[in-house]
Amino acid sequence: MKLPFAESYRIKMVEPLRRSTRQEREAWIKDANYNLFNLHSGHVFVDLLTDSGTGAMSDGQWSEMMLGDESYAGSTSFYKLKNAIKDITGFDYYLPTHQGRAAENVLFSTLVKEGNIVPGNSHFDTTKAHIEFRKAQAVDCTIDEAFDTTLDHPFKGNVNLKKLEDVLKSNPKEKIPLIVITITCNSSGGQPVSMKNMREVSLLASKYGVPVYYDSARFAENAYFIKVREKEYADVSIRNIVREMFSYADGMTMSSKKDAIVNMGGFIGFKHKDVYDKASVFNILFEGFITYGGMSGRDMNALAKGLYEGTEFEYLETRIKQVEFLGNLLKDAGVPIQYPIGGHAIFIDAKRFLPNLPKEEYVAQTLAVELYVEGGVRGVEIGSILADRDPETGLNRYPDLELMRLAIPRRTYTNDHMRYVAAALINVYERRDKVTKGLRIIKEAPILRHFTVELDRI
Ligand code: F0G
Repeated sequence: MKLPFAESYRIKMVEPLRRSTRQEREAWIKDANYNLFNLHSGHVFVDLLTDSGTGAMSDGQWSEMMLGDESYAGSTSFYKLKNAIKDITGFDYYLPTHQGRAAENVLFSTLVKEGNIVPGNSHFDTTKAHIEFRKAQAVDCTIDEAFDTTLDHPFKGNVNLKKLEDVLKSNPKEKIPLIVITITCNSSGGQPVSMKNMREVSLLASKYGVPVYYDSARFAENAYFIKVREKEYADVSIRNIVREMFSYADGMTMSSKKDAIVNMGGFIGFKHKDVYDKASVFNILFEGFITYGGMSGRDMNALAKGLYEGTEFEYLETRIKQVEFLGNLLKDAGVPIQYPIGGHAIFIDAKRFLPNLPKEEYVAQTLAVELYVEGGVRGVEIGSILADRDPETGLNRYPDLELMRLAIPRRTYTNDHMRYVAAALINVYERRDKVTKGLRIIKEAPILRHFTVELDRI
């Protein structure tokens, strides 16, 4: 018999979970103003709100925590992380930050000015918000295929080179301080960018003299997809794929809470010392001295170790196969999910799941509320609430994709949890015709409203 696939780790410590009743959940979600961010985590059975900072660290990472050097300046932990970043990404210079958006804040403070344009591929919401906060504009150049959830395309994170070149051509160079390429592309479904596309973007960018930075939160998952989907890379190691990917960039921002499997942390990697020098000033201003930047020494140690663990093929295979496992259970039941299945999450096409709801009633948010009430499973809306209002017109933006994301934390849940999640969602799917009313907003913040928005049932 062919030996089946099995996880590349075993469990040494567990955290109890409590189940609840539907009646309790109805009351809790009402108290939370139908915003899943407002729920107490103890009121959630399977928490798929995010894969950010929610993974399980390894014994190796926990032991590194004990070796952290908490010196204010020049700690051994800073240098351990510096060596790991150089080894994994090839970047000579780096600044630690407390998380990914802090890296964006420091980098964009250095590069982005009012009136600038920052092209990219489905910028993540914090990236877009940091651009718009500076009165600059994020222009999405993702390939059109990404917006059809039924279409099977291996690299839906790819940049449409024509769209990008149009932006580069029609604006003076001074107006475009950088291009941001997100790997993998969270907002369009955890979809990867091919190596070929990265190479082409780099060539185009250098033709116009514009630097390219990668939003690298899930760079290792992107490398896994290159290995399994881009023929020339089938026999190349993940580490070598990662090195080649970053060779096409001038720098990177990193939310280490994803592919470096730590609970908190981030950094910026730079190819060029002059940009690093300028950014150092903002790092000191916003994050802390340049050799800790908002991180404890112990956290830098765990992060350094996580960069190695997160780029092991066996780990990535285990992780992505679990995401696929959940996706296939849903697909087999006819639930409309985004194809192909992404790296860190399953994205449910809420408009196809609940076709009777008008877009003004926040379709994906309604679905997330229904799933929570059904089984205590917490997902998150990636749709019109997240999209915020247009800063110019103040009108709601309705993105092409109205998704509910089920993000799988790394090394945290078992496949039985995935079966449970699938059953809960399939139950909602079977009663979808009865979901005829959505939600309305009663209170919202002017930017990044999805975190704190308050809603009510219509
Ligand atoms: N870039 C991407 C692609 C992300 O997915 C995130 C965070 C960030 C940047 C910001 O990093 O949270 O460390 O400040 N994504 C989380 C999520 C919040 O749930 O997808 P951060």
